[in-house]
Amino acid sequence: MEIHSSHFGNNFDWGVSSSACQTEGAATTDGKGLSIWDTFCMKPGNIFNNQNGNTACNFYDRYIYDLILMNFLGIRNFRFSISWPRIIPDGIGAKNEKGIDFYNRLIDFCLEMDIKPWITLYHWDLPQALESKGGWTNREILNWFTDYVETCIQHFGDRVNNWMVLNEPLVFTGAGYFLGIHAPGRKGMNNFLAAAHHAVLCQSLGGRIIKSINSRFKVGTTFSASLIEPVEHTKSHVEAATRVDAIINRMFIEPLMGLGYPVHDFKLLQQMEKFIEPGDESIMPFAMDFIGTQNYTREIVKYSPVFPHLHARLIKASQRNVPATTMNWEIYPESIYHILKKVAAYEGVSNIIVTENGAAFNDVLINNQVQDYQRIQYMQDYIAQVLRAKNEGVPVNGYFYWTFTDNFEWAEGYSKRFGLVYTDFSSQRRIVKSSGYWFQQFLDLQKSAV
Ligand code: NOJ
Repeated sequence: MEIHSSHFGNNFDWGVSSSACQTEGAATTDGKGLSIWDTFCMKPGNIFNNQNGNTACNFYDRYIYDLILMNFLGIRNFRFSISWPRIIPDGIGAKNEKGIDFYNRLIDFCLEMDIKPWITLYHWDLPQALESKGGWTNREILNWFTDYVETCIQHFGDRVNNWMVLNEPLVFTGAGYFLGIHAPGRKGMNNFLAAAHHAVLCQSLGGRIIKSINSRFKVGTTFSASLIEPVEHTKSHVEAATRVDAIINRMFIEPLMGLGYPVHDFKLLQQMEKFIEPGDESIMPFAMDFIGTQNYTREIVKYSPVFPHLHARLIKASQRNVPATTMNWEIYPESIYHILKKVAAYEGVSNIIVTENGAAFNDVLINNQVQDYQRIQYMQDYIAQVLRAKNEGVPVNGYFYWTFTDNFEWAEGYSKRFGLVYTDFSSQRRIVKSSGYWFQQFLDLQKSAV
C-alpha cells in the first residue's frame, strides 16, 4: 500500500527543516558578527575543498523566493534557526537592529505564505566573541544564553508559537569540543564534558525562560538519535553497544527527563562531576511540550580496546556492504520506528516531533531535472515506519524533512545534497527535484483526510 499523508490525520504537522548558518550566507552583511563557523571555515583543511558558508544559498536575500516555492509545494511548516551573531554581534549586549529586522521580515512572510514558523534558537553558530571567552566550556554561557533567548522571544514571540531550544547538543559538543572536526575545533575530554554539561543546563534553562514569558508557547528541544546494535550478541559487544547508546542517545535527554546522566552504563560520565555545581541537578529536568527527534540511520557497534574509556567502535556502512547514502550512513528505515518507541517510553513524553530525517544522494541535474528516486524511496520507507510507530500509540505528531534546498553541510561543505530542491550554487537557481514534487503530492492528499 502506498503511504500518504492522510493516513496520519489532519492534526499532523508536515514540514521541512533548515538552519541559519547552512542557508543564509550574508556572513558579514548588515552588521552580523562572526560565528564560530565563519572562523572555523577560514582554517585550510577544516572543510571539504576549503569551502565556507559565506554565501551558502543566499537565503538572506532569497527567502521570499524560497518561501513562495515552499508554499507552491504545499509545505505548511518551516523549521529554521536564528543566527545568534546576526542579532547580537558580540554575543551579549548591543543588539543589531538590521539582523532583527531580517527575522521579522522572514517570519512575516512565512505567515503571509500560510507557513508556520518553528524556530530553533541554537543551531551551532555561536558568536565567535563568546568562543574567545571559552564558548560552551565557560559556565558564563548560562547568562549569555539567557540574554539571547530573551531577545528572541521579546522580538519574535508575538508571531511564533513553536520554539526549539537546542539542535543536537551531542553533535555540537562532541564534534566541536571533543573531536575537533566541527567548529570551534577544540579537542579533549574536559572540553567535551564541560560543554556538554553547560548545554544540558541551557536546554532546560531555555525552556523555563520561554514558558515563564508566556505559558502558551510550545517549547521543545531536539536530539540526534541513532539505533544502536551490537555486531554480535556476545557480552563484550553488547556492553560496548550499551556504552555507545548511553553517549549517542541518552546523555542529553535523560537529564532533561529527571534521570541524570547515564553514569551507570558509561562510567566515564562520572567525570562530569567536576563541572556540576550544587543545585544543578534541580535545574536539569524540565517538562518540554515536545521532544524533537532527529534520526537518519543505525550504527553497528563492535568491542574495541583501542578507544580509551569507550572501548567500542562503529562499523561503517561501507564496511558492512549495506545500502547507504553519500554520507556513508546506512539506509535502515526501521531505525526511526525503534527510536520513536524508545523516546516514547520515557515517562512524561506526550508529544514527539520528528524535527529531522532525510538523505544525501548523488543528485545530478539533467535537462533541468533531478530524478532522485532513491530519496523518494527513502522518504516513503522512513515515513511508513513513523506511521507504524504512531499506529502503535507513539505520540508522534509531526515530521520535518531535512532539508528544503541543498545547503552547506558543515565540514562536508557543498558536497552533500539533502534537499528536496536542488541548489545550483554558482547561479543560486533552485530546481525542484522529483522528491519535491513527490512530497507535494503526498501532502496534497492530506486535504482529503477525514
Ligand atoms: C543534523 C543537523 O541538525 C543538520 O544541521 C545537518 O545538516 C543534518 N543533520 C544532516 O547531517
